Amino acid sequence: MSVMQLANDATPCDAACPGTPLPSLRHPQVEALLRQHPEALHSLVDGLGSPLHLMLPQVFTGNVQRFQRTFEQHAVDGALLYAKKANKADCLVRACSQQGIGVDVASLGELEKTLGGGVPGPRIGISGPEKSQRLLELGLSHQCLLAIDSLNELRRLQQLAHDRGQAARLTLRQRPESHADSRFGLSPAECAQAIALCREDPRGLRLEGFSFHLGGYSCEQRVEAAAQLLTLCIDTRASGLDHCRRINLGGGFAVQYVSPQAWERFRQHNHPTHYHAGKSFSDFYPYGAPRACAEALADILAAPVEGTISLAQQAARHGIDFIIEPGRALLDQAGISAFRVQGVKDRRDSDGYALVTVQGSSFSLSEQWFNSEYLPEPVLLPASPREPEPFIACIGGSTCLEADMLTWRKIRFAHPVRPGDLLLYLNTAGYQMDSNESPFHEARLPHKVVIELDGGALRWQLDGLA
Ligand SMILES: Cc1ncc(COP(=O)(O)O)c(C=O)c1O
Repeated sequence: MSVMQLANDATPCDAACPGTPLPSLRHPQVEALLRQHPEALHSLVDGLGSPLHLMLPQVFTGNVQRFQRTFEQHAVDGALLYAKKANKADCLVRACSQQGIGVDVASLGELEKTLGGGVPGPRIGISGPEKSQRLLELGLSHQCLLAIDSLNELRRLQQLAHDRGQAARLTLRQRPESHADSRFGLSPAECAQAIALCREDPRGLRLEGFSFHLGGYSCEQRVEAAAQLLTLCIDTRASGLDHCRRINLGGGFAVQYVSPQAWERFRQHNHPTHYHAGKSFSDFYPYGAPRACAEALADILAAPVEGTISLAQQAARHGIDFIIEPGRALLDQAGISAFRVQGVKDRRDSDGYALVTVQGSSFSLSEQWFNSEYLPEPVLLPASPREPEPFIACIGGSTCLEADMLTWRKIRFAHPVRPGDLLLYLNTAGYQMDSNESPFHEARLPHKVVIELDGGALRWQLDGLA
């Protein structure tokens, strides 16, 4: 998660003040689902329980195609690997298989699910530091592309390749200068040793290129790291390693959850009085990133790296192609988390706002567990018609922990919130819905439902059944 400092000129206000609105942006399919199928959403939660995660693989596929078009527009080859860690739903692996794209995995379980979901080994990238022996073995036997993070890992892979008489496909992950303190990646000196090892052993180690790991969402840092690796890749190939022709730019393409204007207003006026119990957070995800997803990729590819020559032009000129591993950005708008309201504690007379308790917990909204808040506001889907009336509330989970708040921030709803209503948190597929879920309190893990809209019709299926 990136650090977004709060503005210092924040505005305090009285206890009832909910601060600046941060409505979630809505994809047309999300809009259609909410407008045309509110009864279906209520009945799905009635039947399958709260919370319920709604997956929209058609939206995911649209995101895949936007990234692919961006590579085409910049006249450079680019392979997409969906970073599976961002969401566990099976329907996404299936969508990757159908679209012919790859998957980035970082554990044995992720690799097994991805192979089982129909993605062939050569399209799978394996990242993560000091991979287990079984992960290396399975990756080798399926000819996955292994991102090597240390010299020791490379030697272990070399031994395995010889034991099995099979060449290992690999990239070397070099630590970028901007992340000198990172625990990931090889230093430039280690990278040189690793290249020498690959040169000595072309039958065991097939070096296909280089990768890097960057935290945060800076396009400039990605361009800087990619430009350095491009030069390294060109030099390495010239030194005789013929397969060396790929640069992996990794993930970290920001997502726009709310409008950049609303986000700027929020940052200027944010204040602890806008939160239940005066809670304050030191940083937030950059929810209103002005250039996000495929636009961020376009900025990276178009950035000049040598005079006026762009990164994409330089790569194409030398026959080098790119790999990207977006997680969050491929999931933009592709999932919604629905929570049923279990009770409403009306403290408007004493505190100026109500406390809503939903069935479920903030384990299904992971930002809270990074000591931060998922700021895009939930949408109220009332269980029955009612007159509009401003209603300010914070949202808590039904566990017995004081800290189990889905939304500490005071939200101004246009209608009163009542038991039986649904609160829909939009755009939760990327890391929010399932990375921290647990059976705490003996709760069962929430279901995921795959939703497809076909004209006016809604089709649904439990994830994993298809
Ligand atoms: C190696 C690697 N690839 C891809 C990603 C996905 O990043 P994001 O979901 O921000 O695109 C990560 C995230 O940590 C990563 O470590």
